[in-house]
Amino acid sequence: MAEQDALGLALEIARGYAATRGDRPVWATATLAELRAALGGPLPASPIDPTDVIDALARAAEPGLVTTTGPRYFGFVTGGALPATVAAEWLASVWDQPATLYVMSPAAAVVEEVATAWLIDLLGLPAACSVGFVTGCHMANFTALAAARHELLRRCGWDVEADGLQGAPPLRVIVGEEVHVSVIGALRLLGIGSRQIVRVAADDQGRMRPDTLEAALATSSTTVRLKPDTTGIDVAQGFSPANIPTIICGQAGNVNTGAFDPLDAMADVAGRHQAWLHVDGAFGLWAAASGALKHHVRGIERADSCATDAHKWLNVPYDSGLVFVAHPAAHRAAMSLSAAYLVRSADEPREPMDWVPESSRRARGFAVYAALRSLGRSGVADLVERCCRLARRFATRLQQEPSIRILNEVVLNQVLVRVVPPTGDADAATRAALKLVQDERVCWLGGSRWHDMEAMRISVSNWSTTDADIDRSAESIIRAARRVL
Ligand SMILES: Cc1ncc(COP(=O)(O)O)c(C=O)c1O
Repeated sequence: MAEQDALGLALEIARGYAATRGDRPVWATATLAELRAALGGPLPASPIDPTDVIDALARAAEPGLVTTTGPRYFGFVTGGALPATVAAEWLASVWDQPATLYVMSPAAAVVEEVATAWLIDLLGLPAACSVGFVTGCHMANFTALAAARHELLRRCGWDVEADGLQGAPPLRVIVGEEVHVSVIGALRLLGIGSRQIVRVAADDQGRMRPDTLEAALATSSTTVRLKPDTTGIDVAQGFSPANIPTIICGQAGNVNTGAFDPLDAMADVAGRHQAWLHVDGAFGLWAAASGALKHHVRGIERADSCATDAHKWLNVPYDSGLVFVAHPAAHRAAMSLSAAYLVRSADEPREPMDWVPESSRRARGFAVYAALRSLGRSGVADLVERCCRLARRFATRLQQEPSIRILNEVVLNQVLVRVVPPTGDADAATRAALKLVQDERVCWLGGSRWHDMEAMRISVSNWSTTDADIDRSAESIIRAARRVL
């Protein structure tokens, strides 16, 4: 009874919240001190009725919520949780299925199988790709790069899962100077430090330049720190810049500008050097689902691996990331573990845990499946194209204001906005305008720096954003820009 009441109350609160998403203040209204006071206190000495717990939790948390699912949330790159995906997430919690092995939840495992096939089809990736359902693109990058590390060292006769990295042949990793920090974080976990990574120049939009990539491949072995193996012999001997095992990390969708690396040209370079091409496509990979935008990711089908988020542009609730690897054996070898009690199905080829760094984990496949099924092929394309159109509308509207400059080419869903007063400090003006926009609470924007300039950063990624939301938010930014002049 108490369980039913708690679920019933949660449903009622959730319905109320969803219904007012568009009208709620986009920013939290409570201070951290107020939230600590409302939510804190000593650990209860004895049990409390579940319904009372949910009631008190919702009341205390509500003023501290940022309406990330609302249509005027343009922070980071955040999707808006499609209705079918939220409902599927509820069921995943009620069912409480670990997506680990077929035997633990045949339904969760089969949903992953089905969604895997749909995603490969939708994104135009090689049919043989293996797919892992992870927490986000950071862990998707990690998983893909672990597969790359496995495969490149295997080709040198080294078993990294058994023998580790100490004494291993050197690996060279080349990234663009605009690489997302999560790739650096993933490499760090894989034993490749940030000083060992070769960074090559990008253009004014943040796109890697293929000529600098080629040059780095020809010369950069000296930037790899070579570690002596246990016998004191430099194991890098015998590796020249031409044949040193190399991972090239490209990007589909720069987190500031939305720009794409030239993946086709990079795949040519990678092919000539037998390098592994990994593409971080946290949101930009979804361009592949649109006939009008997929030219941006031309060449993605030649990548050895790629990573994306479902909680960004597919509008699945947090957390949900996806990794695709064109070499399933390497993917599985890098991730798979076995123990006597982890009973595998003799006749099943795809145990869910073989493709991810975790064992027990949430059945994230249900929400991804629900997103793909509720949108269909045309719905995903519409969502991506609509957000891009709205980003252009935002930029066009803001550009009409004399003191506002758009810093990027709006090729996708990202817009970088700067306030430039006729005289004086544009960085200070941009910061001050951002603060006014945040105080007004009509929309949620974050700040960033682009090429040493302060900027307001807009990401249009929510399924429910309309033209009217863009216009209302643009007015708020324009009001702020006028006030700081
Ligand atoms: C290009 C890029 N890569 C990776 C990530 C990391 O994604 P997540 O935080 O979902 O793990 C992001 C996040 O914004 C991103 O924009």
